[in-house]
Amino acid sequence: MFKDLKLLRSQECGESISGLFEKDPNRADAFSVRFEALLFDYSKTLITAEVRAALTALCSQQNVAGRRDAMFEGKEINETEQRAVLHTALRDPGGPELFVEGEDIRAPLRATLGRMERLARRVRSGKLAGPGGPFTDVVNIGIGGSDLGPVMAALALAPYHNGPRCHFVSNVDGAHIHDILQRIDPKTTLVIVASKTFTTVETMTNAATARRWVEAGGGEAARQFLALSTSEEETAAFGIPREHVFGFEDWVGGRYSVWGPIGLSLMLAVGPDRFREFLAGGKAMDDHFRTADWEQNMPVMLALTGIWHNQVCGHPTRAVLPYDQRLRRLPAYLQQLEMESNGKSVAMDGAPLPYPSGPVVWGEPGTNGQHAFYQLLHQGTSVVPAEFLVAAKGHEPELEPHHRLLVVNCLAQSEALMRGRSLKKASALMRAAGYEGAELQRQARHRVFPGNRPSTTLIYPQLTPYVLGQIIALYEHRVFAEGVILGINSFDQWGVELGKELADSLMPLLAGKKDDAGKDGSTRALLDFVRNSKG
Ligand code: F6P
Repeated sequence: MFKDLKLLRSQECGESISGLFEKDPNRADAFSVRFEALLFDYSKTLITAEVRAALTALCSQQNVAGRRDAMFEGKEINETEQRAVLHTALRDPGGPELFVEGEDIRAPLRATLGRMERLARRVRSGKLAGPGGPFTDVVNIGIGGSDLGPVMAALALAPYHNGPRCHFVSNVDGAHIHDILQRIDPKTTLVIVASKTFTTVETMTNAATARRWVEAGGGEAARQFLALSTSEEETAAFGIPREHVFGFEDWVGGRYSVWGPIGLSLMLAVGPDRFREFLAGGKAMDDHFRTADWEQNMPVMLALTGIWHNQVCGHPTRAVLPYDQRLRRLPAYLQQLEMESNGKSVAMDGAPLPYPSGPVVWGEPGTNGQHAFYQLLHQGTSVVPAEFLVAAKGHEPELEPHHRLLVVNCLAQSEALMRGRSLKKASALMRAAGYEGAELQRQARHRVFPGNRPSTTLIYPQLTPYVLGQIIALYEHRVFAEGVILGINSFDQWGVELGKELADSLMPLLAGKKDDAGKDGSTRALLDFVRNSKG
């Protein structure tokens, strides 16, 4: 599928990104997409008009428009789980009727959102309280999509928090829940158990621990526990009364679920009105994705840039580098969104993929990353396409000098990656520093930057709830478009199951209740080590 593009790539060898700017002074304009107040600049890549034409041709070839429309219409595009994919409906509760299996889903969506809002107002006003008084703290217990979306968004929108403090427990490592519970009061804490299935072992273990903590501390679990789940049966079995359950349907994938009940902790923190703004931002990006031509379509151009770098150029990873401290969990969030969605080896029909699928996504906020791993980005032997994100304005006018430094650092990094520094320039620098002869050559070589390293920049005015909604929906549709082009199902995650099964099988072995003869030598030795550890 990528033959033409690979040919273009090979013809381009020797071309440099800086050279493209010299040839075309309007390159920044021509190779960027604006949508509302967002600007996505992909001009610092080797994508030319010809490459872009070949990339957008993939969209027609792979029927991106057809699959996109099928998703929004509620068709069963998640074929291995026989499910529709309709997280987009969560951010459009006022939309026209939408039928799934013969039932209009909008009315129940509106009803659930209304219930969430009423609850949030009562908690935030103190009308709904714990035995010790108004709720001061909320603990969201969940993992994967039932954690990463709300925790990432709650951190991102910290300037808008005016509700109870929110904490997030995900890891089954007892250290996680221990370190949070020891700081808060069991009589004024609201516990939210967030789990689509309500069977995830990490979440259910933490939920049981939290319930014991509430009860032992003089709280009342029946009053202080809420459940966010698709399973009425499981929430009832755990003992959560129906009126404390906020349900959703299986057409909302875990990693796409922050827009609905799973986002309740965010709504409690920022309030229902801000939450609605977040939804509106997501909906605006949906409308853009549905209507804009490919070249002007931000999610599609983000996807095509990804395809170019991974499948065509063969760069196996990409770095997400938010110059926005409050987006510090965005790389982790995108790891799940992108790698759980597109980290597959077979096509929709089960045939092995003849090309690599999703890249490894990783990252850290700038400027911290600059003082850690950017060395490799600039001078390492592998090329890592970098995706920068930055706001034009911060939220702290009194700290404006900080923000200016943040912005210039972000821009400087993408410039440095592109421009590099030649041996000639490095030698001149060393000569000026007093070196000569062989030592000058040696020192200069260490100061050469190959340059020509691609990056993109997403720039937005300020990280408001609306903009955050736009950014998250942008990445969701990017992952979708990439998945369609690769011909895979982006909405299942069978690859997480085997490890879960094996963990179950190891429990009785660790407890010494079952012989470990069936296990390999390494696993047996490791089990032995744990069983024999004292203290
Ligand atoms: O194990 C992977 C996974 O199923 C994710 O897809 C999901 O987001 C996470 O576990 C949590 O699942 P649940 O919300 O059902 O607890």
